[in-house]
Amino acid sequence: MHKVAILLAVLISATTARAQGGVDLSALMRDTCSHCHGDTGDASSRMYPRLAAQNRDYLEKQLRNFRDGSRVSDIMNAMAAALTDAQIVALAEFYSAQPAEKHRVRTSKRALEAVGSYIYHEGNEYTQIPPCADCHGEFAAGDENLPRLAGQHRHYVVEQLMAFENRSRTNDNAIMHSIAKNLTELEINAVALYVSGLVEEGGAEGN
Ligand code: HEC
Ligand code: HEC
Repeated sequence: MHKVAILLAVLISATTARAQGGVDLSALMRDTCSHCHGDTGDASSRMYPRLAAQNRDYLEKQLRNFRDGSRVSDIMNAMAAALTDAQIVALAEFYSAQPAEKHRVRTSKRALEAVGSYIYHEGNEYTQIPPCADCHGEFAAGDENLPRLAGQHRHYVVEQLMAFENRSRTNDNAIMHSIAKNLTELEINAVALYVSGLVEEGGAEGN
């Protein structure tokens, strides 16, 4: 039964992908995006960010930034180079409509997760780190322009925080740089673990 439901969901989303805003995404996604980000943006490898349920305007902005080179990534700059505006809009529409999932946090990592929860909701007043929740929201769902962090691979979150810190990611308006530069490695790993296990709408947050 479960398998049938999954199959149906895949079939339905494949149909949606083809129909998105009149733009045919099926070949593009099958031949490129899906290899790394999965059929529905639920990347199976921790090396690649999850796109499923990511916010639409944020996705559009990132794809434009990869295309014009203002967000630097060898892989994604090449992937986005030939995308048309219509394809970018349709891709953002498709991935943002896919369901979110969270990661299970191992029992042995609970203490680290608790540190992450503290940083996420309270920040660190001794090092001037504001609560992440102020911008990314209580359940890390973000909003139109702010990325969703809930359910993201922690490896990716760690890498992005490091990239903001060392200025290899500079396509935002410097907010994340000023935050990331004060985070310790422990805090980065803790907060990444915490958000990877979150889902919004009364999910297993537990405060
Ligand atoms: C070979 C693997 C690969 C392929 C194929 C690929 N990507 Fe990516 N994608 C990545 C990696 C790696 C990153 C993280 C880049 C970074 O570190 O900044 C990424 C990041 C992204 C992001 C930013 C996510 C975020 O949370 O900021 C978006 C959006 C995205 N990819 C969309 C796409 C789309 C659409 C396609 C198909 C046209 C595609 N990708 C094809 C590997 C891939
Ligand atoms: C003042 C608002 C603000 C606060 C506070 C904030 N962020 Fe952000 N964050 C942003 C914005 C804006 C972006 C999007 C940058 C862009 O458009 O490229 C972002 C992007 C990110 C990303 C990249 C997501 C992706 O999919 O690539 C991560 C990871 C992140 N923030 C983590 C955090 C963490 C962890 C904290 C708390 C320690 C935090 N942020 C606090 C505004 C904020």
